[in-house]
Amino acid sequence: MPAFSASAPGKIILFGEHAVVYGRPAIAVPVLQVRAKAIVTFDPRSTPGLVKLLAPDIGLETTLSELPENHPLAAVLWKAASTMNLSHIPACTIQVSSNIPIAGGMGSGAAVSVAILRAFSASLGHLLTDEQVSQLAYEVEVIHHGIPSGIDNSVITYARPVYFVKGKPIETLQVKRPFSLVIGDTGIQSSTSSVVGDVRQAWEKASDHFEGLFDKVGEIAASGRKSIESGSIETLGPMMDENHDLLRKMGVSSSELDMLVDVARSAGALGAKLSGAGRGGNMIALVSPENSGAVSKALEQAGATHTITTEVRET
Ligand code: MEV
Repeated sequence: MPAFSASAPGKIILFGEHAVVYGRPAIAVPVLQVRAKAIVTFDPRSTPGLVKLLAPDIGLETTLSELPENHPLAAVLWKAASTMNLSHIPACTIQVSSNIPIAGGMGSGAAVSVAILRAFSASLGHLLTDEQVSQLAYEVEVIHHGIPSGIDNSVITYARPVYFVKGKPIETLQVKRPFSLVIGDTGIQSSTSSVVGDVRQAWEKASDHFEGLFDKVGEIAASGRKSIESGSIETLGPMMDENHDLLRKMGVSSSELDMLVDVARSAGALGAKLSGAGRGGNMIALVSPENSGAVSKALEQAGATHTITTEVRET
């Protein structure tokens, strides 16, 4: 049976979450150790027109016709079909699996979309371009997150460190000196759309205050880019600390995230912050090769459900 597979990485946001929704720059990097994978197979004996969708990780075993059109797995296929000018979706089985934590701020939804778009388009001999993949994954995010900035689909599609400004062409970052981050998972699922919605409500009530916070975050992302491109990695730590403080002021941290950030700093991290929408999900800590083990151990002892050590480099 012919099979076509594709995968896409997870991601973390180094600087600039939330402020990026309001036009400020942000920096995101792929996390290659975790991936979403899609496999499309064609069985010539299967019922014409029957598109099976299997996602055992979330207990889903269904057919395309049974899913509402705005279900993320259905929406991504319908959107791909329309971009490829298909009159119908040919009978096939699409298997999806992922080891990216769900609702953990690591882009699991966008990674699943990107993997499906690549495997599905390859199976039809009509590979979508990166720009099309990123755009379609963005449109699926819109259904579920309302007002996404587009940073998640971009970093996951290009699988490279990016400097991102909403609505502007994607810029990849030159990483002069690779550096390491430990990612610690609170184990608490958090809905990006509701946290982004809460920030929007707070911004509506106190726009000057929030615009001020977003400006400061944007300045950190711009300075962070310079540090990464010039290899002054040590300066990133205090910037992460400051960014975390600004995120706390936006009301998107939580006692668990604050505690893991403090634990990482006490264990020798050069800086730490929450990463992604907040309220749960993951935090990140900048570490040196000498203390990465101690930091991840301290995070696990303090209750992180798991940790990942990842190196940021040009891929
Ligand atoms: C989510 O990974 C990052 C947020 O800034 C939302 C977005 O940019 O769409 C919280």
